Amino acid sequence: MPVHFNNAGAGLMPAAVTQAVTDYLAEEADGGSYEAEQRHADTLEREVYETLGRVIDAPSDDIALFDSATRAWSSVVSHIPFAAGDRVWVTPYEYAGNLILWTELRRRLDLRVEVVPVLPDGDLDLDWMSTHIGDDVAFVSVPHVPSGCGIVTPVEEIGKILAPWRCYYGVDGCQAVGQLPVSATSIGCDLLTGAGRKFLRGPRGTGFAAISPRLREAVALPFYDLHIADMTGGDDYEVHSTGARRLEYAERSNSSVMGLQAAARHHLARTDDGPGMVREAVREAIAQLPGTRLIDPGSRHASIVTFVHDRMPARDVQGALHTAGVNVWTAQGSHTPLYMNAVGVEAAVRVSPHYYNSMAEVETFARVLRDVLR
Ligand SMILES: Cc1ncc(COP(=O)(O)O)c(C=O)c1O
Repeated sequence: MPVHFNNAGAGLMPAAVTQAVTDYLAEEADGGSYEAEQRHADTLEREVYETLGRVIDAPSDDIALFDSATRAWSSVVSHIPFAAGDRVWVTPYEYAGNLILWTELRRRLDLRVEVVPVLPDGDLDLDWMSTHIGDDVAFVSVPHVPSGCGIVTPVEEIGKILAPWRCYYGVDGCQAVGQLPVSATSIGCDLLTGAGRKFLRGPRGTGFAAISPRLREAVALPFYDLHIADMTGGDDYEVHSTGARRLEYAERSNSSVMGLQAAARHHLARTDDGPGMVREAVREAIAQLPGTRLIDPGSRHASIVTFVHDRMPARDVQGALHTAGVNVWTAQGSHTPLYMNAVGVEAAVRVSPHYYNSMAEVETFARVLRDVLR
């Protein structure tokens, strides 16, 4: 078994997750998938929403399931009725996929996309936010933890700043859910998105969102699928639900949804202290080696440690570690482009341990990395 320090890519699924997926697939193959769906309707239609709602502390009616975090984000943001001249705030830590969507919406709808400034240590400038917020700001987009480095943004404090204003507040929780306590309620956001496969340790091809009632009332959806809508006559239709599931499509991979439910339950049953200690040991092991530079902005850090080496390109480090039995990944600067361009990083080695990794694995990582960078 390799040392798996690539949880920011995808966490290792616990046995309960693979079991849930394979059992369900076997049931579909043996007895028909519509029939399996009927048998598991309570889990697929109710329980998984409640369980995920508990994971991110949101009402189950606010939860919708998608096949990726990007799909969750774009399914909501693409349909917000922005007006020309509306300001949208992003941070330098915005994920590239979200930025592509903002660029498209800016061009199409004549929005003004502004980047919230950071303090010298990389923390977001909350005073700037407090003084510049106004009713022409229509959306504020903040990643709880970015893709390319481990800063934890103060999403709750930002929520308090934004609360009196009309803007929608969207938090990209893709790298946070499963590794940090995440509460959509305490954050006070209108949108919180996540992926199943990362620190939550669910199957690939799963994503989810918590969407507040006021945001889902506002979005102008071009279509409602048959799980919540019916034609009522020749030329009219009715939507039966005001819940977030309005944004879903009816067809989905039920075995993956069963796996996501198992991952969420597994997460809720955890009693560990999180990956903090392992993360600190990884960070020290890297910082000790000559020629390394940590990409480590901000005052609060999650379990994503990225670094560059002055001689060896990130992809070669990743490859050499993999050959020696250690999984890490290459964080492309272009995936978190605003920040990574500003610090001149095209690619960095991303090391993302989780609570299930041991200190013995950190020692293996440290030894192998020392050999690779020698
Ligand atoms: C911060 C962040 N947001 C969004 C995404 C997109 O997630 P997905 O690949 O599930 O669409 C990622 C993926 O790595 C990410 O790191």
